[in-house]
Parts: sequence; C-alpha cells; structure tokens
Amino acid sequence: MIERLRLTDAVIKYGDVVAVNGVSLTARAGEIVFITGANGSGKSTLTKGIAGLLPLSSGTLERSSRMSYVPQFEEADRDFPARAGEIVITGTQRPGKLFYTHEDHERADEAMNGLGILGLSGREIRTLSGGQLRRVFLARAICGRPELLLLDEPCAGLDALSHEVLFGVLRKMLAGGCAVVMVTHDISDIDGIPEGHRITLSGGKVIRQ
Ligand SMILES: Nc1ncnc2c1ncn2[C@@H]1O[C@H](COP(=O)(O)OP(=O)(O)OP(=O)(O)O)[C@@H](O)[C@H]1O
Ligand SMILES: [Mg+2]
Repeated sequence: MIERLRLTDAVIKYGDVVAVNGVSLTARAGEIVFITGANGSGKSTLTKGIAGLLPLSSGTLERSSRMSYVPQFEEADRDFPARAGEIVITGTQRPGKLFYTHEDHERADEAMNGLGILGLSGREIRTLSGGQLRRVFLARAICGRPELLLLDEPCAGLDALSHEVLFGVLRKMLAGGCAVVMVTHDISDIDGIPEGHRITLSGGKVIRQ
C-alpha cells in the first residue's frame, strides 16, 4: 500500500516546552489513524506539525503534498466576512491555479451536498451554528480531493446524525485511497466508525499504539 504519511521520532517545542516528544506515525492509502489522549497531551501540536504549520525540532516528516487540514474548531475566526460556499470552494485551490473551474464548483457542491449543507451555501459564516460551520470546513477539506486528510476533533459540536454523515463521507474517502489522521479526545467518538489504528498520547509521548 502507498504510504501517505511517515513521521519519525518527531519532537515539537514551544520555546522550551516540549509538546510532542519522539512520536512516530505512518498512514497508508485507505487507512485511518486515530490520535487520542487527554487535554494538553499534544494532539493538536502533532497535527499542526504534520500539516507543516509548526516546525519539527528534530525527527523527519514525509507526506503527500495533496493534503487537507481541518483545525480544531476554536481556532477558526467566525467573524471572517465570507459565505459558506466561498469557504468551501477554496478547498479546490492549488498553487499556480488562478481561477475556479466549472468542475471545482461541482466538487464544492458535491462536498456540501454530501455533508447536508448545500442549502447553507449563500449564508455568511458568522450566522451559522457551530456544527454547521464545522461541516463547512469539512466540506472545504474534502472537495480538494486530498490524499491525506488531517482532522483535529472533527466530531466536536456535531450531533449524532452529523457523526454518521461524517463517517459515511470518511468511508468514501478511504475507499478512494485517501489516508485519514483524526484527533479525538473522546473515545466514544470512535464508536461505529471505520476500523483503524489508534495511538494514545500523554505528555507528548505515545503511550499506547
Ligand atoms: N501556542 C502555544 N504556546 C505554548 N504552549 C502551547 C501552545 N499550544 C499548545 N501549547 C502547550 O502544548 C501542550 C500540548 O497542547 P495541544 O494543544 O497540542 O494539546 P491537545 O492534546 O490538542 O489538547 P486538547 O484536547 O485540549 O485539544 C500543552 O501543554 C499546551 O499548553
Ligand atoms: Mg487540541
């Protein structure tokens, strides 16, 4: 199977604070990896390191460049003056591409439809509920057809029905050869979703694999 992600002995620091301490992790095409652990255990830091938003102090990172990342909900700016559909279609952007094509619009609509938010396309994001906004960011990530999908707590703020919708979308992505890395601090989030590897962090280290 094709590897989409290989992280080896990663260390990530904030100043002198070591937030991720020697973590190794691989994800292959069609595979889902869950990252669990208590608040402050380093899950978001690890995800940002994989996304390339934080540098590794040491260790190596190899990953597919065709990657989508959905940050933990609290980190999104709700006052950003954009409509839901405008946010979603930016997921189709690639370096060197100037305009959106007809196909990009179709993909964006398809992703919104898959997550049950096509009707919200024209709404300003500040008027959306937390769970609706979360689905907008998920749709954005999906319509870029990533080979590697990084999700930081995607279930936070989603109701049971939205969980099922999300897992349905994830299954399709996995079947299409995408690798998924999904952070959750709540094990119960994992019930009923695709079989996958699980790593548990504590104090920035993997304590269970
Ligand atoms: N920007 C930052 N500057 C300094 N320290 C930080 C920063 N962000 C996180 N930390 C620290 O790094 C450690 C790991 O934080 P991180 O956000 O990765 O945890 P988490 O597992 O995602 O937690 P949660 O479940 O609350 O989302 C914590 O001790 C936190 O206080
Ligand atoms: Mg976090």
